[in-house]
Amino acid sequence: MNSLRRQVLIHSVTAATAAGLGLPAWSAQARDGAGVDIHIELHAVPDHVAIRSGAQTRVWRYRGRLLRGAAGALDTSMLAPVIRVRRGQRMRIDLVNGLPEPTIIHWHGLHVPDDMDGHPRFSIAPGARYHYEFTVVDRAGSYWFHAHPHGRTGKQVYSGLAGLFLVSDEQEAALGLPAGAQDIPLIIQDREFDNDNQFVYLDEAQGAARHGGGTMGGGMMGPGMMGGGMRSMMAGMKGVLGDQILVNNRPNASLDVERRAHRVRLLNASNTRMYKLAWDDGSPLTVIGTDGGLLGAPVQRDYVMLAPAERVDLWVDFGRWPAGTERTLRSLAFEGGMNMGGMLGSGGGLADGAPFVVHRFRIGEGAARIAKLPERLTPIPPPQPHLAVNFDNPKVFELTMGMMIWGINGADFDMLGASEIETVKLGTQEIWEFRNDGRGSMMGMVMAHSMHVHGLQYRVLGRSMSNKFAAAYETVKDGLIDDGWKDTVLVMPGERVRILLRFADYTGLYLYHCHMLEHEDSGLMRNYLVKA
Ligand code: C2O
Ligand code: CU
Repeated sequence: MNSLRRQVLIHSVTAATAAGLGLPAWSAQARDGAGVDIHIELHAVPDHVAIRSGAQTRVWRYRGRLLRGAAGALDTSMLAPVIRVRRGQRMRIDLVNGLPEPTIIHWHGLHVPDDMDGHPRFSIAPGARYHYEFTVVDRAGSYWFHAHPHGRTGKQVYSGLAGLFLVSDEQEAALGLPAGAQDIPLIIQDREFDNDNQFVYLDEAQGAARHGGGTMGGGMMGPGMMGGGMRSMMAGMKGVLGDQILVNNRPNASLDVERRAHRVRLLNASNTRMYKLAWDDGSPLTVIGTDGGLLGAPVQRDYVMLAPAERVDLWVDFGRWPAGTERTLRSLAFEGGMNMGGMLGSGGGLADGAPFVVHRFRIGEGAARIAKLPERLTPIPPPQPHLAVNFDNPKVFELTMGMMIWGINGADFDMLGASEIETVKLGTQEIWEFRNDGRGSMMGMVMAHSMHVHGLQYRVLGRSMSNKFAAAYETVKDGLIDDGWKDTVLVMPGERVRILLRFADYTGLYLYHCHMLEHEDSGLMRNYLVKA
């Protein structure tokens, strides 16, 4: 039995209510996706869903419809659609914007041409459509997708515009990993609700002021100014935290599981919150995959850090625990989250780095069924940094803060611009170093960042840490998993992380940015340009 199907109750928009809301109808001409294996239409629409008891919560969501392809290619039983494809399949996806503002979808982690990648310059107006067509060339893995309009990504993702894009391939199939009801995707997010069960996000007026040029509006900060507007402005820069953890859009999430091996795919789709995931009984976690698919071999960790946009695939054998017991996946306490510097932020009762329960598993009564964890998963060639064109001279990207605005090497987002250091040559490899030294930071605020590069998977070459922040780093460092292919990497305060990137197949303009979405929306995002 598929527990996911059972666990989510969603009030869907029927055709009649869709018409009443002025939403676009399913298109008549949508069936022209000839020559593709899978054709999906995704409508970004306002909706209401039951999340907590009492009033329904207003959300923005993707309503999906499968126009071509096997039935399993699109699962709409949760708020977030789950798209399941095989490597090599040709996709067509039509996005229809039923929102009152521009939007676009980014396919996070996938290697696609730049006009298929969902850069904010391709945002479409309300009522408009965007046709995506691409072949899935990526390794089997847990990729995802989400809204990516200019300055509004945080707001739109918080409102519900995200989904999973799970790729399988023959290599993975040969391993016989747990599948079907034993393959459990868990999307972890934090939200704050008001008394009427509605999501609380940044104050819109403050958001507008921020995008209008980052003015502070009120001169110097003082304790008397820490009202709603100031709280919102600070949160707009530090990041939005919620005090309610949702898993697959459910609070207090729990699942009945059989006493056998499962594959649990975790996605941190939170705006800013990081997780330090561990079992409540102290058993190690067995990690089989990260952002870009399976690792070379399983690794065991006492805890795993999961920064915004990172994914981790766990092998969990529930048969190892007694029948009828409950196991809890928790987030443990850690230092170096965004409370660093001690300034007011959002998050209500649940600080970044505070401990809490993420998900419960109720283990069934039957006899344990034995399954063997493969010793080897998929081949991961060792990174070859000496092949990088700048092997002797890594490019440095400092994560900087100016007057209430984030940046990279002191520059904030420029829609069509890429500097010289951000220009790369097709077919080459480069080494980049993200430096989180706190350049330009105000009042000692140095925050963790979650650095994502669009359009490719990279390798992590190494990390170094300044002594000043070493104590906080101790509380997270054993949970960083850098062995496999990555598209997002946690860069802690005081840390420098070196990555190896390969610019293959496509020229064009792609993004790289912090995936703490309020950082991204307020300037910690730039383009890189791949030239022929
Ligand atoms: Cu998942 Cu540019 O983002
Ligand atoms: Cu950041």
